[in-house]
Amino acid sequence: MTDTTQKPILILGGTGKTGRRLAERLTAKGIPVRIGSRSGTPSFDWQDRESWDAALEGVGAVYISYYPDIAVPGAAETVEALARLAVKRGIRRLVLLSGRGETEAQRAEEMVKASGADWTILRCSWFSQNFSEGFLVENIIEGEVALPVGAVGEPFVDTDDIADVAEAVLTRPGHVGQLYELTGPRLLSFADAVAEIAKATGRDIRFRRISHAEFTSAVASHNLPPEFAWLLDELFTEVLDGRNETLTDGVQRALGRRPKDFSTYATETAATGIWSN
Ligand SMILES: NC(=O)c1ccc[n+]([C@@H]2O[C@H](COP(=O)([O-])OP(=O)(O)OC[C@H]3O[C@@H](n4cnc5c(N)ncnc54)[C@H](OP(=O)(O)O)[C@@H]3O)[C@@H](O)[C@H]2O)c1
Repeated sequence: MTDTTQKPILILGGTGKTGRRLAERLTAKGIPVRIGSRSGTPSFDWQDRESWDAALEGVGAVYISYYPDIAVPGAAETVEALARLAVKRGIRRLVLLSGRGETEAQRAEEMVKASGADWTILRCSWFSQNFSEGFLVENIIEGEVALPVGAVGEPFVDTDDIADVAEAVLTRPGHVGQLYELTGPRLLSFADAVAEIAKATGRDIRFRRISHAEFTSAVASHNLPPEFAWLLDELFTEVLDGRNETLTDGVQRALGRRPKDFSTYATETAATGIWSN
């Protein structure tokens, strides 16, 4: 294990869904962290390689959460460049947040493995928090989620579980060279997930399956950056085709306990009031 108790751990995406939770956990344990994002000090920007050196200066390990998404073309090469720079600077302990069933994500994994790092890979299914901290939160608040997806089951994983695993692998021995595939404990369709949230909030929130053409024009009307439009198209045409319709034991293997169920996530999140605005 690296000397992560003295040098800070650089958390890329450290204000995002998993990074923020990991930073809270490490800080609570008295482990110094450095937030690697555009709002961090020093600032880290994936688009500006000149910002990388300062962010890596003096750190003992790096949690790599790429932005906007590791499935986007070119993400693998950018992650590889970061991993190689870290190793060159003597920072060997790297933990990569990856995605399931995505060509580009699996390429990034191979590149991190080949970088010479002491790697651990967290290959995750869809985050439950996409409904509360991601692109679906407004739809939930408005009362309708319309997506071009049918009955395919997705084992939504809670970002609290991902942060618990990230904390464990960065602070305890025995996780170098391990790939943990992290899913929740249950397959749910998007309609099931929305129904769980409706039940937890006591609100009328509907799921509507729309055609791919309707979805594309809805996305276009939001003037999203091109990589987001590409990503949503990729996720709903390619990745949600049943290839990820399996449960895995990654959380159990890394933490010795079951992952959080989506209904617990829905109940806990409803209690925060975030869906009642
Ligand atoms: N969401 C999912 O369901 C899911 C599933 C599997 C894998 N993943 C992977 O998880 C990773 C994170 O996705 P997420 O949806 O959870 O996003 P997220 O971490 O919530 O994204 C926001 C974070 O990215 C930072 N950020 C934004 N633009 C940046 C830039 N140009 N340079 C550096 N940092 C930047 C933000 O901080 P600042 O604004 O301060 O820069 C913030 O910390 C992605 O690689 C994705 O492929 C996601």
